[in-house]
Amino acid sequence: MGIFVGKTLRFIDLFCGIGGFRIAADIACRERQLSAHCVFSSDIDPDAQHAYYSNFGEKPAGDITLIATEDIPDHDILFAGFPCQPFSICGDGKGFDDTRGTLFFDIARILADKKPSAFVLENVKQLRGHNEGKTLARILETLAELGYSTDYKVLNALDFGVPQKRERIFIIGFKKQTNFCWPTGNIAMPPLASILESEVPDFYYASDKIRQNRLDKREGKPTLTEPTIWHENKGGNISALPYSCALRAGASYNYLLVNGERRLTEREMLRLQGFPDSYKIACKYQATRKQAGNSVAVPCVAAVVGAVLDSLLAKTVQPSVVKNAQPQAQANFIFEPSSTYTI
Ligand SMILES: C[S@@+](CC[C@H](N)C(=O)[O-])C[C@H]1O[C@@H](n2cnc3c(N)ncnc32)[C@H](O)[C@@H]1O
Repeated sequence: MGIFVGKTLRFIDLFCGIGGFRIAADIACRERQLSAHCVFSSDIDPDAQHAYYSNFGEKPAGDITLIATEDIPDHDILFAGFPCQPFSICGDGKGFDDTRGTLFFDIARILADKKPSAFVLENVKQLRGHNEGKTLARILETLAELGYSTDYKVLNALDFGVPQKRERIFIIGFKKQTNFCWPTGNIAMPPLASILESEVPDFYYASDKIRQNRLDKREGKPTLTEPTIWHENKGGNISALPYSCALRAGASYNYLLVNGERRLTEREMLRLQGFPDSYKIACKYQATRKQAGNSVAVPCVAAVVGAVLDSLLAKTVQPSVVKNAQPQAQANFIFEPSSTYTI
């Protein structure tokens, strides 16, 4: 299968954003004495490209829809946290053609041509139920037509050692049938205080009016001694939690307020996603806020990538990220590869 030649994992980082998958792949590889080599990355957003370049020394290629598969190097694993654009896949039985015009189509055409041994896709949890489940079914069917055994699961970053509730669907696939066990996480949530900065400039503080509004909405509720993040839901209700709700790229500025008073700093947002403090903040507040909201919870992705590597290596490894895990359930492969699919 040519995998891990010279103990090196060659991967591509599609819709790479600021490189959450790349850091996760590095962690998972290091835990298995493999080296990780990113052979291609792509993101259309100039700010994300700048952040990626500042941290990894490589400028990602741009719009993936304009990149021919011949221009993408061979690789062992494809990673894609593809955008949760309004899914236009209708699931009316047209197979691969159904996915044309969506960014999933570009993932599928790369898999069809480059045939990596495995892939890991990530998206919002809502993909599971979109269009009464038909969208996900079409995606899985297309992947099976391409010759991949697939499975999917919704995982929550809170179970993987970051104080952020972030539920995301992961879809994994293998070219050859393998045993695959999803990581369960079960890692204790660190206290919110561990990701908060001690000195925060005035810029981050909400106006007196907003702060008073939050206090009014929580009137009569118990006084809190530990740090909390106040989350405003769609109905305008405020909950004060010892963890953050999911960072979101397009949320209002006051959607999450530390102790009901201030916005999260760029470093705090990256910490909530499990990025190391060595990660350079290369863009201004607004761009970094969008990037962090779009990114992934690194420890959660590292656990999934690690589980995929373990399957490919076909050995039982207990990476530190899942060391407290309960016995893991074996995946049920939902769609077996059917025939070889060519475009
Ligand atoms: C959900 S984010 C993925 C973030 C990434 N996983 C990370 O760790 O930062 C989706 C990314 O897809 C990028 N994108 C959207 N359309 C694209 C296209 N046509 N070609 C390449 N990238 C695209 C966006 O700019 C965004 O950064």
